[in-house]
Amino acid sequence: MEEGNNMRVCVTGGSGYLGSWLIKKLLEKGYTVHATLRNLDEERKTSHLKSLPNAESRLELFQADIYNPEDFEAAIQGCLFVFHVATPVLHTENSKYKDTSEAAIAGVRAIADSCLRSQTVKRLIYTASVTSVSALKEDGTGFRTSMDESCWTSLNLSYTYSNQFTLDYIKSKTLSEKEILRYNEIETGNKLEVVSLACGLVGGETILSYLPSSLPCVLSLLTGDRLNFDMLRFLQELLGSIPLVHIDDVCEAHIFCMEKPVLRGRFLCAAEAPTIEEMAICYQQNHPEFTISQEFMSGPDGRSKCDVSKLRKEGFVYKYGMKETLDHSVKCARRLGSL
Ligand SMILES: NC(=O)c1ccc[n+]([C@@H]2O[C@H](COP(=O)([O-])OP(=O)(O)OC[C@H]3O[C@@H](n4cnc5c(N)ncnc54)[C@H](OP(=O)(O)O)[C@@H]3O)[C@@H](O)[C@H]2O)c1
Repeated sequence: MEEGNNMRVCVTGGSGYLGSWLIKKLLEKGYTVHATLRNLDEERKTSHLKSLPNAESRLELFQADIYNPEDFEAAIQGCLFVFHVATPVLHTENSKYKDTSEAAIAGVRAIADSCLRSQTVKRLIYTASVTSVSALKEDGTGFRTSMDESCWTSLNLSYTYSNQFTLDYIKSKTLSEKEILRYNEIETGNKLEVVSLACGLVGGETILSYLPSSLPCVLSLLTGDRLNFDMLRFLQELLGSIPLVHIDDVCEAHIFCMEKPVLRGRFLCAAEAPTIEEMAICYQQNHPEFTISQEFMSGPDGRSKCDVSKLRKEGFVYKYGMKETLDHSVKCARRLGSL
């Protein structure tokens, strides 16, 4: 019998990198999926979803924008599980929100409240980012020895390799993750379980027709793309290493968190946490056809141990390590003509 057995689930941000791969896997497993997108008329955002196996009978698309958070209600109705994957990356000016953080927080509140009102949703799973789990001490003087789910990124620090975009992103991801987890503490009559998966940098294949947003960063050592390499340096400055996860594992982890009979709380999701230097060595060993220039061989100091054991202790098994994640990213970029 199929695992999903026609169970209804909602995925916000369904047309993006993570969202589309997650939908592909959910449809393969027999789930019925309500996916939200900002614009149903945009062919580039819908065609890869509509052509997925089982999409015709088990995929329903809904239009919803975080800047109009009440839009999500219709997609959530009748679902047992909701994956909140979407995140506002660029701010919509002239909206009722000051910045992406305000919009993201209003979004998680509206989605969690809709889940409560629905009377059908058992669990809300939020796609968080490892950028909210920095082990840098509050005063910026160094790292805690271990980075784990008890760490929260301090939003008061300044960084050598940050820019306004990265600062806005970590603020929005950190504050919205805190807000969504608060629903585990407020009295909901035990009606809603909230899980956040703080995902590492995602690499690997895609069903998109273009290179997904995180791959230029994963591949920046090979391409010499300075802007994206600075993002990698920023991650190492913030986290002490680059927590890395394969697209297939990250989506399996989302489904694992859904299929557990009972689950709440925060989980780091990364198979490995190499430094930039270790990524460079791995690329050199497996892709000697590329020459990595010296300045792309290493990053800022300050490694702290990245403890990703909590999800493993729940029973989750990663299939792909750093080598496969980097290999599949190279293959994907070549297939799409970007490398
Ligand atoms: N990729 C990574 O390395 C990584 C690592 C950790 C966490 N994450 C998290 O994973 C999630 C998905 O990221 P991704 O890598 O798949 O990026 P992506 O391909 O850019 O997808 C982002 C999604 O968010 C949606 N979105 C953006 N602004 C929105 C708005 N105002 N209202 C509604 N939806 C909006 C987009 O919808 P449209 O298609 O309609 O534009 C898109 O589907 C994000 O929450 C991100 O923080 C990603």
